[in-house]
Amino acid sequence: MARKIILDVDTGSDDAVAIMAAILSPDIQLEAVCSVAGNKDIDKTTENTLRVVELLGAEVPVYRGCREPLVKFLCPDRLEREEKKKVVKDGKVVEMHSDYLDIPTATIREQDISAVEFYVQYLRQAKEPVTLVAVGPLTNVAMALMVDGTIAEKIEEIVVMGGGYNITNVTPTAEFNIWYDPEAAQRVISSGVRVTMVPLDATHAACITLDDCKRFRALNTVSGDFAAELCEQRIVMHNAAQPLDVPDAAAVHDALCIAYLIDPGVLKDVRHVHCVVGFRDFCEGQTIVDPRYYTEEKNCYYAFDGDRFKFVDVLCDLFARDKRKGR
Ligand code: BDR
Ligand code: CA
Repeated sequence: MARKIILDVDTGSDDAVAIMAAILSPDIQLEAVCSVAGNKDIDKTTENTLRVVELLGAEVPVYRGCREPLVKFLCPDRLEREEKKKVVKDGKVVEMHSDYLDIPTATIREQDISAVEFYVQYLRQAKEPVTLVAVGPLTNVAMALMVDGTIAEKIEEIVVMGGGYNITNVTPTAEFNIWYDPEAAQRVISSGVRVTMVPLDATHAACITLDDCKRFRALNTVSGDFAAELCEQRIVMHNAAQPLDVPDAAAVHDALCIAYLIDPGVLKDVRHVHCVVGFRDFCEGQTIVDPRYYTEEKNCYYAFDGDRFKFVDVLCDLFARDKRKGR
């Protein structure tokens, strides 16, 4: 039986790949997609989410989520970070996430209630457990758990793209999703629900290469072509700003969370650990992990490694299922 999931996104190039993968998987019943502010403001992440859902012709409701983090925007001293670079390649400006995805403007609209209202209403009446896959800042999920803590009982697992043990990307100590809303991340990690963290250590190991992009394109499907385009854009940015160990490769973080639901083997060295989130100063947004055996109470599963070959195979299988022929 397909696993019911709700996907929470700040779309975003790698979020777009994750949405397509979730829509196409026969192992997943995608109940809804919720947007949240993060990579871009909430208007853009919602519009981009709608664009991807419509591109694939999926009938999945989209809910607009929180426009800012729980606390951080009240503290101007906590907002500094390095400006993300833009790169000019072949006369074109390339960014990790362009404001709007380069696909048609959405004609479908989001639902009338907010993402937080949706979570509370949906989970209160859920008869079977549902898995949340949160690949943006954790604001919506934390808000919903604050509104009604009893909904935690209905959540089978929360899969979080976020954090980093040996690798960071937004400050020397932090990964972006956790850094953007650290208080929300802490609430989710300590919610008592089973939490699986998919940090940069896993997503950088399970990278996508230029050769993998050729495999996506060879499928001649809309999703394969679009994923290749997005991954190539990410490879340009990784090569310029944070080259990976594997040459000409990019992390496609968010899609790894979906792949994990289909083949858990894409995550390696998954350890049950105690994790807390830093709130201020040098550790703002850091996932501080204690991997010792005699540690404090363990509160999440943390993936220290990933398998890039399994990951690309999962994605190719999914994009091959797309009935829409390449653009
Ligand atoms: C995470 O931050 C965002 O930029 C990506 O979409 C991903 O979810 C990686 O740090
Ligand atoms: Ca994201």
